[in-house]
Amino acid sequence: MSATQPSKATIYLDTNRMIGPISPLLFSGFTEHMGRVIYDGIYDPASPHADKRGLRKDVLAALRELNFRSIRYPGGNFLSGYCWLDGVGPRDQRPRRRDLAWQSIETNQFGTNEFMEFCKAIHAEPMLGVNMGTGTIQDAANLVEYCNAPVGTQYADLRAAHGYREPHGVNYWCLGNEMDGPWQIGHLEAAEYGAKAREAAKMMRLHDSSIKLILCGSSSAMMPTYPDWDRVVLELCWDRVDYHSLHYYAENRENDTASFLALSAEFETYLDTLSGVLRYVKARQRSTHEVYLSWDEWNVWYRARGSQQYERGGWTEAPHLIEEIYNLEDALVVAQWMNVFLRKCDVLRIACLAQAVNVIAPILTTRDSMLKQSIYYPFLLFSNLATGAALDVKVKAPLYPTARFGAMPLLDVSASYDETSDRNALFIVNRSLTESLTVDLCWQDRAPKRLNAVHQVAGTDPKAVNTFERPNQIVAVPVAPPPISDKTVTLTLPPLSFTAIDATLM
Ligand code: AHR
Repeated sequence: MSATQPSKATIYLDTNRMIGPISPLLFSGFTEHMGRVIYDGIYDPASPHADKRGLRKDVLAALRELNFRSIRYPGGNFLSGYCWLDGVGPRDQRPRRRDLAWQSIETNQFGTNEFMEFCKAIHAEPMLGVNMGTGTIQDAANLVEYCNAPVGTQYADLRAAHGYREPHGVNYWCLGNEMDGPWQIGHLEAAEYGAKAREAAKMMRLHDSSIKLILCGSSSAMMPTYPDWDRVVLELCWDRVDYHSLHYYAENRENDTASFLALSAEFETYLDTLSGVLRYVKARQRSTHEVYLSWDEWNVWYRARGSQQYERGGWTEAPHLIEEIYNLEDALVVAQWMNVFLRKCDVLRIACLAQAVNVIAPILTTRDSMLKQSIYYPFLLFSNLATGAALDVKVKAPLYPTARFGAMPLLDVSASYDETSDRNALFIVNRSLTESLTVDLCWQDRAPKRLNAVHQVAGTDPKAVNTFERPNQIVAVPVAPPPISDKTVTLTLPPLSFTAIDATLM
């Protein structure tokens, strides 16, 4: 990859040019009963790091640091065969079951109430899924009663008998998982799913009118039914739901790093298309109701994929499934993905990194230790620095050639501005494999008072990874903030880098 124009760029910022408020739920995660996410990852009573509930204290600390605002649970494909009653009540009476989705043994030692404890421990809102595969609309409604109703009726009293007299007050509910996928247990055609989701939503809301509901959109932009699935289910459910989901897992199977590092183009197109579908359905329905997008599964996933070895558990407990090892180029793709979240925050209001621990995750565990993978660091920086509103930044950067997307700018950028604190954060990826880039940051209205910190994730080898033996190959390191000259700051970004700048404005 080599720049075809001089290696100099300019980023223009203006706090009047706002895209919209950044929903804190863009920094959410996902934990599925799959592989070693829950068992061995979050809940492991045999670990020296376990607290008295069996939750891993080191993992909780890392997840708190990542500042996940909400966690989606219990699946994923697991959800579509799950009976939530299996996972509540005295542990010694819970059934051991065959989980058909991942061909694993589910012990049910962790269930809805343990999940609530976990969410409290990491200060995240629970986001529960209801089973729209083998589950009925009655099961879905019963779970809302169990979680959200005051005591005095069957399922609320059952919750109290299980030790939780006060309702859990779960606000966010997913109406199934990837119901468009033929692999999904109980997969439905769009019209069938739309009708079932609509009736489930009705019953769930009759229990608690305040809940927010998330409809299953397409499970990827590659589905043959995309984007028709989205139109059909939205037409059937528009007034009953608040969010519409999308999923996507990024790949670099061809080892074409130049194109891989330009994937934000694809993420944006996906959001633009679905945003168009939302507008179309809203207009057809003559509705004033708004539905927003929820990207409730996203990450890089392709190496530990597509074979029995990775995706089938051989009927064992907590098998090692899809434990993807992340490198520098993956971290740069994750950073761009989050840039896109900010740039599209007017329509995208929820995003859940899939997943939180061990399975395609920023954290890997052994029984007694924990490793932060490369993708941990961009998530950490966005989740903690991007507050307030997203700014519409103007970027002038040299182009570079990609086989997949044609000529693309060497920089991918987003910014936030929080008027309550006058904090301004900037997130910049230099996609070049070889070229440093000198960048002028030009504030057009306000001047920066000081740069509080500059953090950088960078390296020379796009395939470099962290290991238990060498855990600090790809981490966020502080960089000395460059001087401010009037309203301009000039900094040099190394190739293959992600830089997060935290500034306070005058
Ligand atoms: O995150 C792994 C799996 O990917 C989820 O179970 C499913 O929803 C998706 O296909």
